[in-house]
Amino acid sequence: MKSFESGSLFLFPTHVTVTNSHEFLKQKNFYVKEIYNQIAIDSDGIQASNDKGYHGKYDQLIHNSIIRNLIDPIIDYNIKNNYGFKDNVSWSYNSIWINLNKPGCSNAPHVHFNSQLSGIFYVKVPLNSGTTRFFNPSLMYPLEGFKLQSFLERSLEYSCYIWNPVEGQLLMFPSTLLHDVNANQSNDERITISFNLNLFCK
Ligand SMILES: [Fe+2]
Repeated sequence: MKSFESGSLFLFPTHVTVTNSHEFLKQKNFYVKEIYNQIAIDSDGIQASNDKGYHGKYDQLIHNSIIRNLIDPIIDYNIKNNYGFKDNVSWSYNSIWINLNKPGCSNAPHVHFNSQLSGIFYVKVPLNSGTTRFFNPSLMYPLEGFKLQSFLERSLEYSCYIWNPVEGQLLMFPSTLLHDVNANQSNDERITISFNLNLFCK
């Protein structure tokens, strides 16, 4: 019989929330049309993490009531209910914009500066159009390769976690979480909305 007790402590978890919008799925064509309208207004976009793809200006959707009426309630719900924030914590947009990756386009690894929470809303994600990859904040994490898959599925000690996007899904995560989008290998366009949020105490 062993003469000791031992346990595990999983330090520094990264809180990611996942929400599926029924409203988006009910009126997907309406929202996709609105996104293409917005891209037509500013077809040049800017250069950021996008590798050959389209990246709208950071304030592109900040006054767009159609998109904000879709997304704001989801953000608000998560901030009020899922993060364990204090009652007086509120939020505002730092930025919200459209990404469009044609076949072959990708987004390089990046973090989002000048905000506390960031998010992605998946508008149009054809099969093989690019996963979102999240990287372990402990870069070069050395233990994953030695662990059983069954243990990893519980502990989530991955070096890189691959998220297969679903249309109508909204992810929120700390802005410091490194992520990228691998190349669009479909024959269609991949569209997402990205946003950064500032948190403050009222
Ligand atoms: Fe991003």
